[in-house]
Amino acid sequence: MSVIRFGVIGCGEISAATCVGLAASPITKIAMLMDTRPETLNDLHELYGAPTTQDAEDVFANPDVDAVYIATPHDTHVPLGIRAAQAGKHVLMEKPIATTLADADKLINVCREAGVKLGVSFYNQVDGGQRLARDMILGGMIGDVTAVRLNAIVDKPAHYWQAGYTQRVSTDWRTKLARAGGGVLIMNVIHDLNAIRFVTGLEVTRLYAESDTLSTPVEVEDTVGVVMRYNNGAIGVIQAGSAMRGGEHECLTGPRIYGTKGQIILNPSGTPRYSIMMSTEPGEGFEPGQWRELVNPGRMIDRQAIEEGFARAILEDTPPPCTGEDARRVLEIVLASYESARLHQPVALPL
Ligand SMILES: NC(=O)c1ccc[n+]([C@@H]2O[C@H](COP(=O)([O-])OP(=O)(O)OC[C@H]3O[C@@H](n4cnc5c(N)ncnc54)[C@H](O)[C@@H]3O)[C@@H](O)[C@H]2O)c1
Repeated sequence: MSVIRFGVIGCGEISAATCVGLAASPITKIAMLMDTRPETLNDLHELYGAPTTQDAEDVFANPDVDAVYIATPHDTHVPLGIRAAQAGKHVLMEKPIATTLADADKLINVCREAGVKLGVSFYNQVDGGQRLARDMILGGMIGDVTAVRLNAIVDKPAHYWQAGYTQRVSTDWRTKLARAGGGVLIMNVIHDLNAIRFVTGLEVTRLYAESDTLSTPVEVEDTVGVVMRYNNGAIGVIQAGSAMRGGEHECLTGPRIYGTKGQIILNPSGTPRYSIMMSTEPGEGFEPGQWRELVNPGRMIDRQAIEEGFARAILEDTPPPCTGEDARRVLEIVLASYESARLHQPVALPL
């Protein structure tokens, strides 16, 4: 086997982008397209020629499918993932892995018992700039990490809540607590939390959060602040909102990591595959105190790297770039934040 054949489950906004990568890679292929709404299947079928179905069981029973990519509302992730694993299919899950830790554990265990790979679609572990940032941090170039700052300042348009950014599918699951599990934290900040964990290797041990829905007619939070303590003593701050009018000014927006000898900004201005660093240490090609770009050239088109990374893990029998356990740790920070905000008290991790 040299190509991994994917069944795509859920053909909405993000799957349209994922399919571009699946079709472009020499080691992945779209073998089947599935969605409960037939109107999402037509254009993807025309583009990629794969057979379509409205019944996920057809994907699980299809011998031409090696792996599934699941990109559906959050409350459906685990039931679909479990059925896929039980049918012997590898599972590449969109974030978040689940909306509860118990469900995440269930999925991780079923995949382990079934002997299939479980990966989660966080791009950080395949982002060249973030991998370089990780090498720099672990190599001591910014010294001991002392502080972290995460900003997710977004002004989501009204139509986002009814149909996403592209309005590909009309649906209100993003507004419902039981379906989405939360708002800007579980939906957006989770990427940044994963990035920080990936590049620093640090774990959150305690946090305090304030969270509310202040100006959007939805059940999930639109404004959050979290203070976090990491296991090396570093202190992190999250400021996030999905209804921050005007959004973020185009100044440097990415997650920041401060250390005793410098700092790193991941994906400044949202630029993928690109981070910047300042170190008081001399390094190859730059002077102490100078800002330096961490760019990994020649990267693939968006999302292709995630899918290829997962396919390669199957082909080479290695762990996927982001494992179920990684995704569970990041979900735990999000859920601890919700718990802290509910209790108006600090919460210790692990939960
Ligand atoms: N990694 C990223 O950068 C990124 C970006 C956007 C969204 N996402 C994630 O992708 C997932 C989907 O988000 P989206 O924006 O594409 O949503 P969407 O609403 O546009 O698409 C979801 C699709 O799932 C279908 N669906 C619903 N229930 C189903 C079921 N039981 N079986 C099969 N199909 C079902 C819907 O009909 C819809 O077409 C979410 O987990 C979201 O958080 C990830």
